Amino acid sequence: MRKQYVIGNWKMNLAWEEVLDLCGELKDFMHSLPKTISIGVTPSSPYIPVVMPLLPAHIKVGSQMVSAMESGACTGQVSAKQLDSLGTVFTLIGHSESRALWNESDQELAQKVSQSLETQLEVVFCIGESLEVRESGDYLSFLMHQIKAGLFHLDAKQMKRVILAYEPIWAIGTGKSAQPNQIQEVHQALRGMIATQYGEEVANSFSILYGGSVKPENAAGTFALEDVDGALVGGASLKAQSFAAIAEACVSQKSI
Ligand code: PGA
Repeated sequence: MRKQYVIGNWKMNLAWEEVLDLCGELKDFMHSLPKTISIGVTPSSPYIPVVMPLLPAHIKVGSQMVSAMESGACTGQVSAKQLDSLGTVFTLIGHSESRALWNESDQELAQKVSQSLETQLEVVFCIGESLEVRESGDYLSFLMHQIKAGLFHLDAKQMKRVILAYEPIWAIGTGKSAQPNQIQEVHQALRGMIATQYGEEVANSFSILYGGSVKPENAAGTFALEDVDGALVGGASLKAQSFAAIAEACVSQKSI
């Protein structure tokens, strides 16, 4: 059975007082969830060590970013080792916003993946096509390129510490999630790509999350899809009630 994840990407939102409120509310709303679902949140870097003791123990804290460099003269960066030493459990890599804002190259992203896996961090590797690529019809080969460039230098053992998040750029923050048939088509194709490279065993235990306007209203329909193993949630993760409703939908659809 594949592991199911619901991860809240807080992005560059929430002032400190709001973080305190959200952590308190998450304690109230999430306490009844079974431990078989993996819940995570990614606060902004300075909040990471401070929110850890404020959250229920089963909510894992991840980072929104990590440096491609190991250490040293890299002003403004945070290394995988530093994150790991704080007890950070995972890091996002390749989110479309950071790819675009910081002009991250495929090579840099592959380096970030390697740096992270040298520590205890798990990697949530994000991929997704723009509307232009979607409309060109060539989205599967575009996504194949993103996976190949970012992940296929890993061996099978390392690959088992990677979670993939498919986030079509046209669905992020738009309020308009991809349609279930569009999501399933891509997730099934991605699992096939992993199987071709790493074999069926790795592919069948590999978690692939969907992200892009996941909300309580569309969560059950998304989690009902065979090849969806959870969600990366932006806007709806900033309110404990909607984040908890999404996690509950995952628990009930996946019978975990
Ligand atoms: P959204 O963001 O849920 O607000 O669309 C998802 C993401 O960017 O990870």
